[in-house]
Amino acid sequence: MADFSNDPTRTGFFAPQRFEADVYDCEVIGKVPSDISGAFVRVGGEWFYPPKFEDDAILNSDGYISMFRFRNGRVDYKGRWIRTQRFEKNLAAGRQLYGYYRNPYTDDPEVRDPARPHLRTVSNTAPIAHAGKLFSLKEDGLPHRIDPRTLETIGPYDFDGQWKSQTFTAHPKIDPVTGEMIALGYQATGLATDDLFVYTIDAAGKVKREVRLKVPYVSVIHDMAITQKHVLIPFGGYVTSRERLESGKIHWGWDASKPSYIGVLPRDGDAKDVRWFKGPERCMMHVFNAYDDGRKIVLYAPFFESNFFPFFPPIDGSPWDASKARAYVRRITIDLSSRADTWKEEILWPFPVQDLGRVDTRFMSLETRYGFTGYADPERPFDEARAGNVRGRVTNCYGRFDFATGRLSTYFAGPTHSLQECCFVPRKGSREEGDGYLIGVASNFAEMRSELVIADAQRLEEGDIARVILPFRSSAQIHGIWVPEEEMTFA
Ligand SMILES: [Fe+2]
Repeated sequence: MADFSNDPTRTGFFAPQRFEADVYDCEVIGKVPSDISGAFVRVGGEWFYPPKFEDDAILNSDGYISMFRFRNGRVDYKGRWIRTQRFEKNLAAGRQLYGYYRNPYTDDPEVRDPARPHLRTVSNTAPIAHAGKLFSLKEDGLPHRIDPRTLETIGPYDFDGQWKSQTFTAHPKIDPVTGEMIALGYQATGLATDDLFVYTIDAAGKVKREVRLKVPYVSVIHDMAITQKHVLIPFGGYVTSRERLESGKIHWGWDASKPSYIGVLPRDGDAKDVRWFKGPERCMMHVFNAYDDGRKIVLYAPFFESNFFPFFPPIDGSPWDASKARAYVRRITIDLSSRADTWKEEILWPFPVQDLGRVDTRFMSLETRYGFTGYADPERPFDEARAGNVRGRVTNCYGRFDFATGRLSTYFAGPTHSLQECCFVPRKGSREEGDGYLIGVASNFAEMRSELVIADAQRLEEGDIARVILPFRSSAQIHGIWVPEEEMTFA
């Protein structure tokens, strides 16, 4: 029997709760601004059945989608399991049939299907709304279409047969100028394959362009960035192979000798036009944003120094190094007029941050002044006596990082709280970058409940305007998005 007594994803605040939820007209501390209209949709993972292996990745847990629905100053909450094929098969069997994260060779014989690894996705990483449709995403499978009125799972979606990759990124980017969605699928033709397909999907949701590439080596391509002219494809460090998977190991290992890469593909270009720029050891998970500056590309990203994930161990047998699992806000400049295949990189603030960087998405692909993300401020005391259930790192602040001036504005969540990824909500009728609200879910360890905090993004120091109280610990979020009222038909 596996021992989960020290596993922070099985015990304490983030222990699975397994229920679905509807809370109408949630309790609020303060006053929810009545001009916030739409939904904050979140996707994350929770073990419905325990994993087969103690050292499996929490990234392998079952997808859960939740929504804070804002209307006329009131907020309703809804949470549902994402009913993937895998979830249904486990539920029918009454146990966990599936093995390690992205390794179908470790699955029980009745579901083992290494030729079609995308069918075992848990769809637990991020939501996206495009062309009036809502999806949950995970990079090892197809999007799952979700009914925005009920959060029921409609099923996997391949864009009417036009999406040919087995996989679809958790972080497609939507161009606010054209309404196009740029997305990629890596390991596009099967387990550990070096095929990368990049797609442009028009504002109506139809695939209008496909480019097929080969990657320098097979690695995690978790996020991507777009400018008005280019698609950026960052990755580094993680490695896998068919042999590794057949030997029964978890999907990724870390190879510190591997360079990091940023692929630059012109949005109107073909496979022959991609350039692979090369950098040092780096764990490149998420980006803030990128834009074109003449013949240069500027990318803001909170990349890690080295391997962030302890459950993807170094392949040389060395121990995971927590001191290098730190992300910093970086400005990366790629000079397309140079023949060199490298980039210039600056660390803009000297302290580590949560690598879940967000911007005002109306400025996606355009020059950006503000990045938002969480960080731990050691000057703000954490009340360990009252918050006894904390394990791991605490994120007690949200920051607005001003790339133009270097100024940092800070929201502090309180001495017993840790913050999940934030999300920016534009103020209705405003067009100014950063004019709106910053929202996000806080774990209140003292009360063992989740609270959605709402702050004015231009006055973070003043604290929250309102807190929406859930009378339970909400399922953990990986990523969330704001969906304005006019983009989606909610109930
Ligand atoms: Fe992500």
